[in-house]
Amino acid sequence: MLEVPTVPSPSVTPQPPAEAVAPLMRGLDVLRSLTAADSGDGTLALADLARTTGLARSTVDRICATLAHLGFVRLDGRDASLAPPLMTVANACLDALRVPGVLGPLADELADELDESVSLAVPDGDGIRFVHQVLRRRALSISFRVGDALPGGGCAPGLVFRDGLSLAVDDQLVERGLVAVAVPVRGPDGSVVCALSVVSHTSRHAAGELAGAVRGPLEACVRSMESVLATSSHASGRRPGPRASNAGGADIERAPVVSLARGLRVLTAFDSAHPTLTLTEIAEATGLARATARRALITYEHLGYVTHEDRAFRLTPRVLTLGCAPLSRTTLPRIAAPHLAALSKRLGESVGLSVPDGDRVRCTARVTPRRVMSVDIGVGSRLPAKDTAAGLLLRGDGESAVADGPEAGLRSVAVPVRDRAGRVVSALDVTAHQGRGDDDAWTEALRDTAALIAADLHVTSRFVSVPVH
Ligand code: PHB
Repeated sequence: MLEVPTVPSPSVTPQPPAEAVAPLMRGLDVLRSLTAADSGDGTLALADLARTTGLARSTVDRICATLAHLGFVRLDGRDASLAPPLMTVANACLDALRVPGVLGPLADELADELDESVSLAVPDGDGIRFVHQVLRRRALSISFRVGDALPGGGCAPGLVFRDGLSLAVDDQLVERGLVAVAVPVRGPDGSVVCALSVVSHTSRHAAGELAGAVRGPLEACVRSMESVLATSSHASGRRPGPRASNAGGADIERAPVVSLARGLRVLTAFDSAHPTLTLTEIAEATGLARATARRALITYEHLGYVTHEDRAFRLTPRVLTLGCAPLSRTTLPRIAAPHLAALSKRLGESVGLSVPDGDRVRCTARVTPRRVMSVDIGVGSRLPAKDTAAGLLLRGDGESAVADGPEAGLRSVAVPVRDRAGRVVSALDVTAHQGRGDDDAWTEALRDTAALIAADLHVTSRFVSVPVH
């Protein structure tokens, strides 16, 4: 596991203001600890969480029960894990920042043109935080993700912000073998909005040579980005309109620690149409009492998650310390795992996910109940597409498929799992001995589960690409 250096925290007043919401501060502490867990996958034992936060175990339990109630954390025996719905918080921040949404597609084009990894980073405290990453899968690949941070003096984008360089080179500052060049992207008022980096490896480019090799396309990309910034509403000071919904309002009031649930709701009031909000607008958007919203904002400002200018509040990139990096490292099989376990339990049968692989289908995840005779299809196994429901489904474009096979006496039923664009990216199946289940009942159960998996996939993949296997 790669060690991501942490950005030193800005000089916050150690003593929280009297109006700060203590349970909200504790909840944020728990989310930050899970995000920073050594495993990098956002999981910690509850006992370790008590140790890293310094909170009493009973407090950790109540906070985690609240986060689980909101769907932000999954509790599994002695462990707590960050769950995909928490990505709504990071998405609100990334959306409100505008940079990934507006400039991300141009960064993607640059990565294609150069066949190198490309990233966008914004300043965060004394360091930088990545808000967009286009990775090339290589034997030696970079493992920074959206939400990861680096110290300002230790990477190319950091040098752009800290030293005001118009071209900064990272010659293995972050890691041996890693070379990067970064350039500033400026808004219409001349201020640096973000840094655009091209990242490579010394086996492909020496640092000095990388800058020369990528300079032309990099500069052309910056010009396109700056003209997009000049014409997009990014700079036009558009005022927010009325908010559409107050999703989750009812649930919040039933959370074990209501003040934590209410406080977290404030973060998701922001989006690209509402990058800044006044207190009144936040109260309206969230359905919270003004006094409640105000105390949450005081708490967030104290901790550096929110800033304000006049009456306009804005999220800072620090919000991405609440789950973003581990959740942006996930894959579809990992997203699906808890849902497959629940479905297998509900049906008492073997259920799994598959993707196309030539004229075969490859199993990417499987949960099989223990019994004397059980379906034995392992993750990674490849079966002829024509013999399985998953294969038939992935070849056609139906809403379900049924097959007898892959072996005599087996029957399988499959339904699609779709990405945000509605494309079928995987097939969800149940496979069992013939005559054991009812196709219609199985199809219905599969559809329920496919919808849950798709919802988690969609929220996770809004600003990051999630591998389907
Ligand atoms: C990146 O992973 O995008 C990256 C790493 C180091 C740098 C710049 C960018 O100096």
